[in-house]
Amino acid sequence: MTERRKILVTSALPYANGSIHLGHLVEYIQTDIWVRFQKMRGHDCTYVCADDAHGTAIMLKAEQLGLTPDEQIAKVKAEHEKDFAEFLVNFDNFHSTHSEENRELSGLIYGRLKDNGHIASRKITQAYDPEKELFLADRYIKGTCPKCKAEDQYGDNCEVCSATYSPTELINPKSVISGATPIEKDSEHFFFKLPEFEAFLKDWTRAGHLQDEVANKLAEWLDSGLQEWDISRDAPYFGFEIPGETGKYFYVWLDAPIGYMASFKNYLSQQDGIDVEATFDEYWNKDSDTELYHFIGKDIVNFHALFWPAMLSSAQFRTPTKVCVHGFLTVNGKKMSKSRGTFINARSYLDHLNPEYLRYYFAAKLSSSVDDLDLNLEDFVQRVNSDLVGKVVNIASRTAKFIQKAGGTLSSTIADAELWQKFVDADSVIADLYERREFAKAMREIMALADAANEYIAAQAPWSLAKQEGTEQQVLDICTLGVNMFRALLTYLTPVLPKLSQDAEAFLDETLSWEAPISFRGGENINKFKPLLTRIEMAKVDAMVEDSKQELAAQQSNSTDEAAADADSELSKEPLTEEINFDDFAKVDLRVALIAKAEHVEGANKLLRLTLDLGGETRNVFSGIKSAYQPEDLEGKLTVMVANLAPRKMKFGVSEGMVLAAGPGKKEIYLLEPHSGAKPGQRVM
Ligand code: MSP
Ligand code: ZN
Repeated sequence: MTERRKILVTSALPYANGSIHLGHLVEYIQTDIWVRFQKMRGHDCTYVCADDAHGTAIMLKAEQLGLTPDEQIAKVKAEHEKDFAEFLVNFDNFHSTHSEENRELSGLIYGRLKDNGHIASRKITQAYDPEKELFLADRYIKGTCPKCKAEDQYGDNCEVCSATYSPTELINPKSVISGATPIEKDSEHFFFKLPEFEAFLKDWTRAGHLQDEVANKLAEWLDSGLQEWDISRDAPYFGFEIPGETGKYFYVWLDAPIGYMASFKNYLSQQDGIDVEATFDEYWNKDSDTELYHFIGKDIVNFHALFWPAMLSSAQFRTPTKVCVHGFLTVNGKKMSKSRGTFINARSYLDHLNPEYLRYYFAAKLSSSVDDLDLNLEDFVQRVNSDLVGKVVNIASRTAKFIQKAGGTLSSTIADAELWQKFVDADSVIADLYERREFAKAMREIMALADAANEYIAAQAPWSLAKQEGTEQQVLDICTLGVNMFRALLTYLTPVLPKLSQDAEAFLDETLSWEAPISFRGGENINKFKPLLTRIEMAKVDAMVEDSKQELAAQQSNSTDEAAADADSELSKEPLTEEINFDDFAKVDLRVALIAKAEHVEGANKLLRLTLDLGGETRNVFSGIKSAYQPEDLEGKLTVMVANLAPRKMKFGVSEGMVLAAGPGKKEIYLLEPHSGAKPGQRVM
């Protein structure tokens, strides 16, 4: 064995204002595979992550849901942890940036930057929402494009003509939060003097810490000159108040990467018998011999490969060994889309499919490049069925039964030494590919071995041999080699398919280890083989897509859905409130409705079918309230509906209106109910 490396690994910290989706999972699965590989090889590898809990978006999200920020981040953290665990993403620690460790470390690092003269302060003028009493980032301002006059454009660029401008140039600008017209207001901000790190960064970005394509991109920025980085925000802000200042907070991106250190420290504090400070120092001191790997998406490179190393270097901490950048996920060749049902949340996937299918598919697509990768749903089904079920598991299911028949003990003879040697020799090739994050190539090597194994078994046809007299030993030898080839494949696949591997261990009656080259196992007993994986049916994939569409429908027809329109990391693109005039309001025909019938909809996860009586006329309405109501509890109750909504065709039929409800979603959805005395069909005014 080579020396035992000490490696600290991170994935980017997901924002605490939305659900984990399949795009995020590219990153967490990629990192988890790499970490599992390192651990299996006997290295001391620690994988930490956390929720990124600060910022305006989270503050507003909590407010919108009627929660305190602390409640909001606790709720999301529980949800994230559950999703990750079910996808077998095995963090050693999952913490939060809103933690004491992070407050301390952020204060410490800021203090050092300041002592080193790397913090500047000056007054700047910004847009301000006079109603909400809040400074407005560009994306919180909308108005008419000064160039092409398109309405409803964001404060920094026009989606229609692609013009870029400053929010002050917008015609008729409005705060997305309150609808008020923004005013301009001065305030003092603090800046990190990034330009002073230009020489350092020019070196650092070319010193083997980054993929070449990433370094080239950064060189363009470095050559065009760096700007000072604004690291403060004014109250109200959900974050850490800057030590020594009042009403000034660290910008979320200042303390977010420090969250990596905080999560690690929190991890150490949970370990028995170690000196927390000394171990923390061992990993983070500027001459550390340990390795530090950050896995991130291509959208956040500047934070990790410019600001972060500069901060660490000023604060006398070590810088990353590698920042590993991956591309973005597309589904069926296009950007994930809610209306196409391809914006798939982790939970919607888990409702229908085995997480290891996705782990394998991503592994089969991932390389060390920053290219985007595509989840083609048909290819996904085909690939998983053919590789995992058809090739890998098939080897065991075709050979194990003959070993059982012979008494369950493996032969000690290697039936085809040359073939077995192929499996042994592949060891270092595959390990090297994992190390370099060339997972697609590693999967190809493994599947080539699986092909060789299947060809051998087909040629030897133990099932025919077994019918002849006096072939017992020969059949046992062939099948023993079959089982050994399966063992080798499962060993190489363990980082990707830890659960399958565990199930195989039960059958093989051993712990698969990859610390040393694979050795042939003979003369020992194995257990009865049980089917390990089932084929994916396209119908399950379709149902998942349909669910994801319904989620959008539920969001649109219920203002109560917590995922609102921003399951993506960024802010909701929809204004939180927008003024309408009385005529607009008068167009909405609200009526008292009697729920005559409520029933489950076969195949729908979120919808109930309601038959609403409007005092003679009945309406069929699908409503996304199943998580909160049993149909029988609704029948006979009065509620309020929008009666003149254009009918909408859904998978399960036409929905003729919408019922009104309140609450954050899931179990907490409350249908509105008029006071007693109201009659079905009466207009609600
Ligand atoms: N909170 C920041 C990261 C702070 S790290 C100190 C953030 N959060 S995020 O939730 O928006 O994204 C988390 C990670 O998921 C990022 O690395 C991001 O690139 C990645 N992805 C988000 N959507 C993705 C795809 N559609 N495809 C691939 N990766 C994606 O950024
Ligand atoms: Zn325009």
